[in-house]
Amino acid sequence: MPALLTVRLMRPEDLQAIAEIQAQCYPPEMNEPPGLLAARLAACPDTAWVAVDATDRPGAYLVAYRTLLGKVSSLGAAFEHHAQPDGLYLHDLAIGRALRGQGVAQTLVSHAREQASRWALAGLALVSVNDTVAFWRGQGFEVAHVSPEGQAALGTYWGTAVYMRA
Ligand SMILES: CC(C)(COP(=O)(O)OP(=O)(O)OC[C@H]1O[C@@H](n2cnc3c(N)ncnc32)[C@H](O)[C@@H]1OP(=O)(O)O)[C@@H](O)C(=O)NCCC(=O)NCCS
Repeated sequence: MPALLTVRLMRPEDLQAIAEIQAQCYPPEMNEPPGLLAARLAACPDTAWVAVDATDRPGAYLVAYRTLLGKVSSLGAAFEHHAQPDGLYLHDLAIGRALRGQGVAQTLVSHAREQASRWALAGLALVSVNDTVAFWRGQGFEVAHVSPEGQAALGTYWGTAVYMRA
């Protein structure tokens, strides 16, 4: 990751920059509304991270919540930490165009992994979209079995959506 970038927790004042990064990363039909992003941050502020430059402006983000492994999250669903979690669910990792290909994603994923291990969670999970299965394999994730209920949740995403665990 570029030396001038650091990772810190997301704050409400970052949400405009987050919406701009999201718009650079996904087609309009997959963009989640600002109110939902704000509600998720309010519900799970300790599992939302940004990579910021020297001016403290976010150029990339990762939002997550503590969950039960095997439970697939639908697109547009609210966030809520599970009371007795065994995993960290990575809902969205997005790197602004200017920062791609510089190890920023890898840094944010490592940060989340360290936190998950500090919380004694058994693993990480996510839904891969945007043709990113190979990227996630590179981060140590593998395609995992999902229940019929989980398959229905995968159907809420646009394009191919694949449940993966690490
Ligand atoms: C996919 C994405 C997160 C990668 O971010 P990035 O910061 O460019 O990735 P990094 O520079 O940290 O790359 C880490 C490794 O993954 C590889 N990689 C990056 N993008 C990849 C892709 N689309 N497919 C396969 N491998 C990829 C890199 O070559 C690098 O490999 P190396 O360690 O062997 O050199 C970024 O392109 C992005 O935000 N895309 C749009 C949003 C998105 O699809 N998010 C994931 C949704 S599940």
